[in-house]
Amino acid sequence: MTTPSLLILPGDGIGPEVMAEVRKVIDWFGAKRDLTFDVSEDLVGGCAYDKHGTPLHDDTMAKAQEVDAVLLGAVGGPQYDSLDFSVKPERGLLRLRKEMDLFANLRPAQCFDALADFSSLKKDVVAGLDIMIVRELTSGIYFGEPRGIIEEGNERVGINTQRYTESEIDRVARNAFELAMKRNKKLCSMEKANVMESGVLWREVVTEVGKDYPEVELSHMYADAGAMQLCRWPKQFDVIVTDNLFGDLLSDAAAMLTGSLGMLPSASLGAPMANGRPKAMYEPVHGSAPDIAGQGKANPIACVLSFAMALRYSFDQGAEATRLEKAIETVLADGYRTADLLGEEGKDPVSTSQMGDAIIAALDASL
Ligand code: NAD
Ligand code: IPM
Ligand code: MN
Repeated sequence: MTTPSLLILPGDGIGPEVMAEVRKVIDWFGAKRDLTFDVSEDLVGGCAYDKHGTPLHDDTMAKAQEVDAVLLGAVGGPQYDSLDFSVKPERGLLRLRKEMDLFANLRPAQCFDALADFSSLKKDVVAGLDIMIVRELTSGIYFGEPRGIIEEGNERVGINTQRYTESEIDRVARNAFELAMKRNKKLCSMEKANVMESGVLWREVVTEVGKDYPEVELSHMYADAGAMQLCRWPKQFDVIVTDNLFGDLLSDAAAMLTGSLGMLPSASLGAPMANGRPKAMYEPVHGSAPDIAGQGKANPIACVLSFAMALRYSFDQGAEATRLEKAIETVLADGYRTADLLGEEGKDPVSTSQMGDAIIAALDASL
């Protein structure tokens, strides 16, 4: 079997800091589990703009199309805020998602027992939480045309368009139903069919797809009510499927159920490639965190868990993914906390690299 290939794009801000810890984990699997990857690294986001004048060079895009999986850190930063929209760091990420056609973004929110006390919600609301948000990632208002800022009369108008085709809804819904079948067979679809035609179509198509999955209990919720229910009693959900923008908002909210945005991984999956593996990119849900970048404070767990998702979804290494997730559970149970997991008055946080080292030690202990 050929060595699987992995393109690493650390990006900006804390991206390279958390990715350095993932590199330790990748090296560990090579040395201790005979699981080696052909790893290459490249630029995306602001750092790519600084070097090439574009947030994603065509060569990098081509590489991303060829590898078995892409692992991305984070992009963006205040120094790029005034750039023209077409070259903003975030455009690099959006181009990767669109051109690789990564339509299904899996954002699991799991509350580790050791962090149940730390959540801003009551312990019994979040303890044992394990939900999966499936966010449509390549369409909707993020990409719909027309868009832009135009002159109208004596003022400017900002325009974005929410747009979904039946086939775009169908494929992401199927993905969510398949996941639900492997989990607790419950799927909640969220849109705003009460005010948006795209939401009406979304509900119709999801209902239709549901006929192929009679074992899955399907429900529908308006996305605003869904946000409320996520905070009120999140354990009522198993899998949630929703559009690009609602999924962005709902997954950040879900992150706080788990204690910190620094905990949430994601997998963005497309259609299967010739080798049967899905086109895939893995990235933490959080951004480049300019407020803590360069200080060794970032929590690397979201990025490490994203690599665990790569092991599971791209490389058929479910048992090794579980080993890595268990190592993180151990480290948290042993009391290792980066600053984001301690709160305002938190004392003695560990640094990003100390957290990475603790994960490696727990992996060693798992052998
Ligand atoms: P952010 O996720 O970067 O940060 C939000 C808050 O969470 C900050 O207080 C930050 O310190 C904290 N945080 C995030 N990740 C953390 C981690 N791993 N450990 C500890 N604390 C963490 O969101 P933002 O501040 O709204 O955006 C900053 C930049 O990142 C923007 O340019 C934005 O566009 C970009 N962004 C990129 C991605 C991505 O690359 N996938 C995702 C979201 C935001
Ligand atoms: C995310 C981010 C991105 C999004 C940005 C950085 C383009 O917020 O991955 O959640 O809005 O999708
Ligand atoms: Mn987001």
